[in-house]
Amino acid sequence: MTTQTKLKLDTPFKKEVYEGLTAFPKYLSSKYFYDKAGDKLFQDIMAMPEYYLTDCEFEILETHTQPIAEYFRGKENGFDLIELGAGDGKKTKIVLKYLSEQNFNFIYKPIDISQNAIDSLSEKLKDELPNVTVDPEKGEYFEVLERLKSYNTRKKVIIVLGSNIGNLMHPRAIDFLSKLKDTMQEDDMLFMGFDQKKNPETILNAYNDKAGITEAFNKNILIRINHELQADFDIDKFIHWETYNPETGTAKSFLVAEKEMKVTIKELDLTINFKPWETIHTEISQKYTDSVVDWLANEAGLKINTSFTDKKGYYKNYVFQRKNV
Ligand code: AVI
Repeated sequence: MTTQTKLKLDTPFKKEVYEGLTAFPKYLSSKYFYDKAGDKLFQDIMAMPEYYLTDCEFEILETHTQPIAEYFRGKENGFDLIELGAGDGKKTKIVLKYLSEQNFNFIYKPIDISQNAIDSLSEKLKDELPNVTVDPEKGEYFEVLERLKSYNTRKKVIIVLGSNIGNLMHPRAIDFLSKLKDTMQEDDMLFMGFDQKKNPETILNAYNDKAGITEAFNKNILIRINHELQADFDIDKFIHWETYNPETGTAKSFLVAEKEMKVTIKELDLTINFKPWETIHTEISQKYTDSVVDWLANEAGLKINTSFTDKKGYYKNYVFQRKNV
């Protein structure tokens, strides 16, 4: 890397795009799918019939609201309900409604990287659940986790829905869980969704819809690079390709170059070459079994307290606590 290039890598986005596209094989991080257009595409994905994850988690929260709420219940002091990656809060509202109707003593603290999401969620909750105290915060997961350490005056329940952990490879997932554990006291709880292994075809279909929404979502990362880093990716010359390995439980998304191409990224002073059928790996969506979740938790210093599933057993929400050492 020349000094001139080094100077230009002044944001994590630039740095990671440079690293990923000059590596072999090429890769990009799925966290960069989510700009305004990407957020909208992900909303559309969650509404697709093939993307069973959302409906399953919805069903779990709806069917088991009472026992879940009982796990959340704090002692006389009540509890703080902290949601990481709250988004539009559609699923969480089921639990919030129940907690509010049953006069649980709690506040709701949604945390999201998108100020837009936080603002519209707070507005909606003011209208729909006026008795719920909402204390929102904008921020990135790991930076907010640091701040959460000081949130220790009463019981804390951290919720992470949507199987977001599946976008991390196991070592990073353990790191994430372990950092969450570091913010937790003995009675605190972590409530987290994990998509389960199932018929490989069901999984492939969820990431390879016929309408092409997932394809557009995957390709959005190239559109972002074109817009934000002045690049000239010819989006139509890339194919969205999904694989699922039923042994490891890993679904992987790729963008595959249909032909030889030269792409210039002006902001990075970089020209990259694609050979025909060369790949860019963009996302993993890990699928789990109880024993893998148990292993991850154990490695992170957590233990599974209980879990809730849907009728088909496609998806599970686990309740974790700190392991006693
Ligand atoms: C956010 N995350 C859990 C989704 C998933 O299932 O991996 C993102 C997604 N990618 C393609 N479709 C949905």
